[in-house]
Amino acid sequence: MTTLLLINSSARQLGSHSRSLSRYFKDRWIEVFPDSQVISRDLAESQLPHLDGDTIKAFYGLDEPGKGRAPKLDKSDELIDEVMQADVICLASPMYNFSVSSLLKAWIDLVVRSDKTYHKVADGRHEGMCRGKKVIVLSSSGGLYFGSRMDHMHPYIDVVLGFMGITDVEHVRLEGMARSEVNLAESIDNAHRAIDAFIGAL
Ligand SMILES: Cc1cc2nc3c(=O)[nH]c(=O)nc-3n(C[C@H](O)[C@H](O)[C@H](O)COP(=O)(O)O)c2cc1C
Repeated sequence: MTTLLLINSSARQLGSHSRSLSRYFKDRWIEVFPDSQVISRDLAESQLPHLDGDTIKAFYGLDEPGKGRAPKLDKSDELIDEVMQADVICLASPMYNFSVSSLLKAWIDLVVRSDKTYHKVADGRHEGMCRGKKVIVLSSSGGLYFGSRMDHMHPYIDVVLGFMGITDVEHVRLEGMARSEVNLAESIDNAHRAIDAFIGAL
């Protein structure tokens, strides 16, 4: 069975452009793949913890004997399990201060994990362990920064996914949401068409 992991990372529920795109994606997905499994991970609801010293030690197998299991490991395991189950990941990401939201950064810090989603190979190089997955990133931003040196979101997402072995990544962008010269209806229409084409090509 095909599995979709749908991740929302906007802090707002109402009026969120990235969430409206991910809702559209989910509706179209269910139409085309009614028998698939859909895992929804809403990072505004999950309120994931930040990393701490004990969790980092445990990530590298350096936990202190007798201290018990670092509590945040269970959350990390749960999130990684969702990624591993997924054939397709739909990642809805608003731009906050030229990068991803801190909600998404907390998810990344729990999911990018040695010997779980990447491992060391010869010569100190790393290899991703999440191969064969497709990702569609649905981003939204108030300004027009894509491709400029101020865009630390799209390239960053590509680097993180690539590090985990995910290189089949498509970006669908709703940009300039706060710019009067941007035609919102037209942008949304284009984004919907790109989503239709992505799902149609699966
Ligand atoms: C805290 C915060 C920081 C933001 N920083 C940026 C930014 O650096 N660049 C930008 O183009 N838009 C920025 N915006 C605007 C958002 O990217 C825009 O409102 C986007 O639509 C948010 O996604 P959402 O509609 O899914 O919530 C920011 C908005 C917030 C709330």
